[in-house]
Amino acid sequence: MKKVVFVGLYLAFVTSCNNKMVQEDSTEARIDSLLNIMTIDEKIGQMNQYNGFWDVTGPVPEDNDTQLKYEHLKKGLVGSMLNVIGTKNVRELQELVVNETRLGIPLIFGYDVIHGHKTVSPIPLAEAASWDLPAIEKSARIAAIEASAVGINWTFAPMVDISRDARWGRVMEGGGEDPFLGSLIGVARIKGFQGDDLSAANTIAATAKHFAAYGFSESGRDYNTVDIGTSVLYNTVLPPFKAAVEVDVKTVMNSFNVLNGIPATANSFLQRDILKEKWAFNGFIVSDWASGSQMIKHGFARDLKHVAELSANTGSDMDMESYAYVTYLKELVAEGKVKESVIDDAVRRILRVKYGLGLFDDPYTYCNPEVEKEMLYHPDHQSAALDMAKKSIVLLKNASLPGQDKQLLPLNKNQVKIAVIGALADDKNSPLGSWRLASDDNTAVSVLEGLKNYTDNLTYAKGADLVIGEATFRDEIKINETDKSGFDEAIKVARAAEVVIMVLGEHGFQSGEGRSRTQLDLPGVQQELLEAIYKVNKNIILVLMNGRPLAITWADENIPAILETWHLGSQSGNAISQVLFGDYNPSGKLTMTFPRSVGQVPIYYNHYSTGRPDPTEQVFWSHYSDESNMPLYPFGFGLSYSEFEYSNLQIDASDNANIKIKVTVKNIGRVAGEEVAQLYIHDKFASVVRPVKELKGFEKFSLGPNESKEIEFVLTDKELGFYDNDGEFIVEAGEFTVMVGTNSQKGISGEFIRK
Ligand code: BGC
Repeated sequence: MKKVVFVGLYLAFVTSCNNKMVQEDSTEARIDSLLNIMTIDEKIGQMNQYNGFWDVTGPVPEDNDTQLKYEHLKKGLVGSMLNVIGTKNVRELQELVVNETRLGIPLIFGYDVIHGHKTVSPIPLAEAASWDLPAIEKSARIAAIEASAVGINWTFAPMVDISRDARWGRVMEGGGEDPFLGSLIGVARIKGFQGDDLSAANTIAATAKHFAAYGFSESGRDYNTVDIGTSVLYNTVLPPFKAAVEVDVKTVMNSFNVLNGIPATANSFLQRDILKEKWAFNGFIVSDWASGSQMIKHGFARDLKHVAELSANTGSDMDMESYAYVTYLKELVAEGKVKESVIDDAVRRILRVKYGLGLFDDPYTYCNPEVEKEMLYHPDHQSAALDMAKKSIVLLKNASLPGQDKQLLPLNKNQVKIAVIGALADDKNSPLGSWRLASDDNTAVSVLEGLKNYTDNLTYAKGADLVIGEATFRDEIKINETDKSGFDEAIKVARAAEVVIMVLGEHGFQSGEGRSRTQLDLPGVQQELLEAIYKVNKNIILVLMNGRPLAITWADENIPAILETWHLGSQSGNAISQVLFGDYNPSGKLTMTFPRSVGQVPIYYNHYSTGRPDPTEQVFWSHYSDESNMPLYPFGFGLSYSEFEYSNLQIDASDNANIKIKVTVKNIGRVAGEEVAQLYIHDKFASVVRPVKELKGFEKFSLGPNESKEIEFVLTDKELGFYDNDGEFIVEAGEFTVMVGTNSQKGISGEFIRK
């Protein structure tokens, strides 16, 4: 019976459609027909997502029952699986539902493909520092190619949460603190995952997550309460999601947090009013892992049945691992507490994505073992990962030593005797970073391996362990806080060297989900190690590896060269070595402010002015008595082996709709290099106060020595307007300051009036 229905439906609606409108109509007609014949159980089944049988990315529910999951799969009570990978495993489950269930509706397989799959790209915060949108899109494209080759057709990425709090471990997953840049990065990643043709075998559906405001978890503690004002919600949190919807992101994931006392998973204002109505989002919303059932702990839902009622009615279409829909929705429909039209709408959305992926035409599109074999760790992917890794590196400091006129970096390939110190230098796992679920352990090129490709003239000493025991994705990490037994050896090695490369920072699993920190220093005994080495050799290049901004104020004051390398993925050591030896001129720029002290957090460049911003002789101005207001490194900051000079700012504001800003940038350094010219505006007074600076344009380009280039930016209403407190986008006449420069603090400024 089932196969007859499926094939019948298929034949009835497969018409050759060239025109997109016709295609859409035909998809909707196919969905209508399917909905007409689906039972209530089958509909609710589509709204149910289960975790697979081997791996978890959240707390395992007490009643996790593998047998029951299989039973449900066979009965058509499951619409999606997560954490099932490999063409064999995926095919097995897909065959189960296609062959055993009445209608044979294929499953959609979701997975956290966050930064690469087997081949690992830099963590998203690092990629963001490249400001290179085509490269970021390509990185997501490659991730989709590898992930789709193992049967996955849906990634839970990109995370487009804006965050200003470096204590929050999940900043590594996002694009940083700025909504303008964050939107563009999110869009690039969605385009990379979804490609031009979603039904192709190597494109996958993307997810904009976490809707909404999860990045504002109070005090940076994961899963914590969110309490933000409407202006921040409309102007900072929501724009990247809106941009994602505008490029047709197929799914949105809601979030763990409450917003104004209402959990996001049952937030009608967010899910229905804004996302589905105002923005006309036509994909589906998936809950976060058990974010439905967690509403009981929040004190919002009475019990699991209440969870199902609240989530379904407020627009959460698919339930990830709460078991709420599969257990109670049918009852709730019978009782009239959830209308069948609500169910129909959710199922329609889910089926729409499945049709879009081509799963109805061939449920096994993503299950080709030949492709799987060919694509994983493909050499082309490795070279793209290397390119992305180099572009993600940020040079934070490059001074010359006293008495010398040459900066410490880049290193001379032939002459230097190098000491390499730090446990992270010899680590092939940590550079893969957090959220790289599928990649094999220890597959990154370590710094030591990368350096050895350049020179034999190096000695390594660990100095101290960073982590005690094994570091894993799921377990709390134990940091070495006491053992300094390796210091003496490291000091000896450093003393004998001309240059010391110290690789310090956070382990890859120290950031990510559930990895909040109250300190932003170098963990464990690393700061002591750095100071101990500094006493015997000041020629130190500090190579930082971390998943969030760190407060490394002492290092900035004392260490001549500092390179921010994040967690760069598979090609980490090669990328770092190429930068250290000058084969690649660093061009990355920070997308999150680095604080001087953790007490300044949240610290971000696009803050409002206070009424007392300026220093006075007395204490009555907005400041700290024990620390400057300034960041250690501002948003947009990053050095190069070249130097760029900005001049000749020209503003033409004669046409309100197209305000033109021109500037000349010249490479006044000795080598060719890339620069990211950044444009910031300040709306001097408005009906709702505007930030002191807002990024509204940037361009990345390369210049040879002495070469210059005129850059032009155009400001339209889109850049000059903002959301009022009712969520309406408005553009006001008024005076603006504009600054174009090399980072958010340094540039040349002018003014214009928007009439
Ligand atoms: C995370 C999501 C992730 C999901 C599935 C949750 O814990 O918050 O970002 O996609 O698990 O793994």
